[in-house]
Amino acid sequence: MAKQIGILTAGGDSPGLNAAIRGVGKATDGYYGMRIIGFRDGFRGLAENRIQRLDGDVLSGILTIGGTILGTSRDKPHKMTIGGKVYDMTDAIIENYQANHLDVLVCLGGGGTQKNALRLKQKGLNIITLPKTIDNDVALTDATFGFDTALGIATESIDRLHSTAHSHHRIIIVEIMGHRAGWLALGAGIAGGADVILLPELPYDVNAVAEAIRNRVRHGKKFSIVAVAEGAMPKELANQQMAAQRLKERATTKEEKNQVKSELDTLEQQHRNHALQLSIHLEELTGLEARVTILGYVQRGGAPSAADRLLATRLGSACANFINQDVYGVMVAAHGDRAEPVPLEDVAGNRRPVPLDHPWIETARHVGTNLGD
Ligand code: F6P
Repeated sequence: MAKQIGILTAGGDSPGLNAAIRGVGKATDGYYGMRIIGFRDGFRGLAENRIQRLDGDVLSGILTIGGTILGTSRDKPHKMTIGGKVYDMTDAIIENYQANHLDVLVCLGGGGTQKNALRLKQKGLNIITLPKTIDNDVALTDATFGFDTALGIATESIDRLHSTAHSHHRIIIVEIMGHRAGWLALGAGIAGGADVILLPELPYDVNAVAEAIRNRVRHGKKFSIVAVAEGAMPKELANQQMAAQRLKERATTKEEKNQVKSELDTLEQQHRNHALQLSIHLEELTGLEARVTILGYVQRGGAPSAADRLLATRLGSACANFINQDVYGVMVAAHGDRAEPVPLEDVAGNRRPVPLDHPWIETARHVGTNLGD
């Protein structure tokens, strides 16, 4: 009997998701003669059995389109809010998996999705995942689809900010997404020629940033572009966070856990608007005018780049190949030009921050970019 595949997209949307759905769909259905159905809005749609047909011509014309034709959500199977209350919907998901006679569920997502997928694997379901996120921070894959497109958008934005910063002799701080990883800010910062790049992996000293900007002024450059990752933070805040994290690991009583949680919440509040706070500090320390641009969701929108279409299609097609060989419980990872299965246990819960000895960091330093340290 033909294998029956279910597929869903979960977490934040990302350019290349439709290319991946098409890749999995065309290869499973068209090439291997399997059958495929989609579930709407991530794990919520699977829990509610909201099915979307993916046969016939549904997969045509979606390669170049941004977002996801299946819709997405950040819902977790074991913690789903319904009518204001939180429920464990794992059993409903298992029931719908069985009711639809699925042989495998394909989950397209980032770090959170890998964890949810592992939980379902541990409940006995056949699961395969694909690594998607603009943040590029999924463990054990060289790349995630969505990153290249977002990198292009962020770089173009820095190019545009350059001319206005230059004309007004201003500091422009551009906040770039990436969650707790600095791949996007570092890549776009280098490609766009930012004068300062601030990353979560390298807590910064605002005085060092101000000195780098004053030094540019001394050399006749009265404007500066500061590319700041959304997760970047000053050294003092980073130290406080690390201390609170250590306490969290050691907390045993409910009281201790609540206290650490409220401390971490307070620190997160302090981190909100950090780009704005940075601009105020830099104005004070340099005497220059500063402005903030938060790129936000524009980085996730629109058509995927050629590189993302290619990556998503080849990972999708490799996924179909693994299903054909009954290889389950894995993420399809990009390793150079190859697509290889890696166990979900090794991926889930592990992030991929920018290593401090990564060549991009050295590259940035070599071209005179200040990294705030
Ligand atoms: O993971 C992708 C991402 O865009 C991150 O860069 C960002 O921190 C987060 O999603 C935003 O999440 P949401 O879509 O839930 O606001």
